[in-house]
Amino acid sequence: MRIISKVMILSLSIIVVLSGTTYSIFLESENHIKSATFVSKSFEVGPGKIASKALYDIEFPKGHIGVKSFDAELVDEDGKSVPLYETYLHHWFAIKYNENITMSRYIEQSHDISKGINYTRNDGACRGFLLPHYWGLGGESRGTSSNLPDPFAVEFGNPTNIPHGFKEKWLFDIMVIDTRGAYSRKGCTECRCDLLNLPKDFYNVTRDINDQPLSLNYKGGLFCCKDNLQCKLRKGFHGPTRKLSLRYKIRWVDWDEHQVPLKFYILDTTDRVRTNGSSTIHDCQAEYTIPRIGHGDSPHVKKANIPMKKGGYLIYGTSHMHTGVVNATLYGQDGRVLCTSTPKYGTGKEAGNERGYLVGMSGCYPKPGSVEIKDGEILTLETRYQNKFRTGAMGFFYIHLAEQLPNILKI
Ligand SMILES: *[C@@H]1O[C@H](CO)[C@@H](O)[C@H](O)[C@H]1NC(C)=O
Ligand SMILES: *[C@@H]1O[C@H](CO)[C@@H](O)[C@H](O)[C@H]1NC(C)=O
Ligand SMILES: *[C@@H]1O[C@H](CO)[C@@H](O)[C@H](O)[C@H]1NC(C)=O
Ligand SMILES: *[C@@H]1O[C@H](CO)[C@@H](O)[C@H](O)[C@H]1NC(C)=O
Ligand SMILES: *[C@@H]1O[C@H](CO)[C@@H](O)[C@H](O)[C@H]1NC(C)=O
Repeated sequence: MRIISKVMILSLSIIVVLSGTTYSIFLESENHIKSATFVSKSFEVGPGKIASKALYDIEFPKGHIGVKSFDAELVDEDGKSVPLYETYLHHWFAIKYNENITMSRYIEQSHDISKGINYTRNDGACRGFLLPHYWGLGGESRGTSSNLPDPFAVEFGNPTNIPHGFKEKWLFDIMVIDTRGAYSRKGCTECRCDLLNLPKDFYNVTRDINDQPLSLNYKGGLFCCKDNLQCKLRKGFHGPTRKLSLRYKIRWVDWDEHQVPLKFYILDTTDRVRTNGSSTIHDCQAEYTIPRIGHGDSPHVKKANIPMKKGGYLIYGTSHMHTGVVNATLYGQDGRVLCTSTPKYGTGKEAGNERGYLVGMSGCYPKPGSVEIKDGEILTLETRYQNKFRTGAMGFFYIHLAEQLPNILKI
């Protein structure tokens, strides 16, 4: 469990090891781009319940490939999209790992993932394997693009990069909150501790992101949204339990010399950048609280100055934020705007357009070559939320950088 809690942004109390339980719905080919839709193993939720799971060995395209997009949403047993006001998708993160081939059988049978697994993170620098994923969003998943333009892609399955005796695999770290019947839907989606039926010794045994005892001042966020806990329900509310899954679509190309590889970085607005004398330490907190004392109409702003060891050309940028977001902007060291990501809020009832919920974040596709980040450049990330009390707020900026451009664009 220690390894897992280091890798994930929180410790997950139930580990599901999967193999051959997922299935592919269809496989098509549009030009050179292949596409497949998969459904993850299901997990059970009931009114007010939180499900925080690690699903190992999910289906993923085989071979040496370049991934062009990865989109996911929550569906019920009949494959119907589940609206956010029934079950809120707090986050799904797709995480890569290498598995020792001689251990595979043992891991599958024993569900023991303490040995034989090495997690391999993205190019971002948050300390302690924090935020290791390559794709991952939350309630805004249905309205946020992950497409990478040609000829760019993120390369996986390159045999020369996989250690001998290991196999590349993927897992989902998922957290969903079933808010049917919840006393406060909004508070529940923000993992407000006082709205959850926490065990008596909760604050005595729970440790925070820095592995310190959780402060009694901790009012809400990831550490209160533990697997199987329950949000307080309205008196007399009853509803059926149900089985949900993540349905995800991946588009990819077979890797060849025409593909240009992208690096993927997650920048975190809570990164408390410091140095220990020889190295830069990215002390990311993953979440933050927006205090009660508001300042009228002006949004709450959180800022981090984040040095990039290696730069590149910005090919795509977007953000992962929560409901209440105003916008998120990434600036270069000279103050130029590299990318702004703005929210889309739902106005209706149907899945993907739920009234009052954040249902999408915009992204940036600068003309390749036009936005360059220099090696060593210090970027500034600014995330803005409405100035109201909020727990578990997140501000991640996702950037895909090309370290070289295809010849045709170099003129
Ligand atoms: C894989 O696991 C086996 C069994 O524990 C071990 O003997 C072997 O050294 C491991 N292989 C690698 C490459 O670490
Ligand atoms: C896997 O992780 C272990 C322990 O963290 C480490 O000793 C080993 O060198 C790693 N193996 C590979 C192939 O990266
Ligand atoms: C939790 O810790 C406090 C202070 O150390 C102690 O007074 C209390 O009895 C503990 N509660 C439980 C349930 O362990
Ligand atoms: C600073 O951190 C780096 C990376 O964790 C480590 O290798 C190095 O020894 C540390 N230096 C000092 C002076 O603590
Ligand atoms: C982001 O929000 C702030 C505060 O409302 C606003 O001043 C700014 O123009 C917004 N930026 C963009 C690019 O929309």
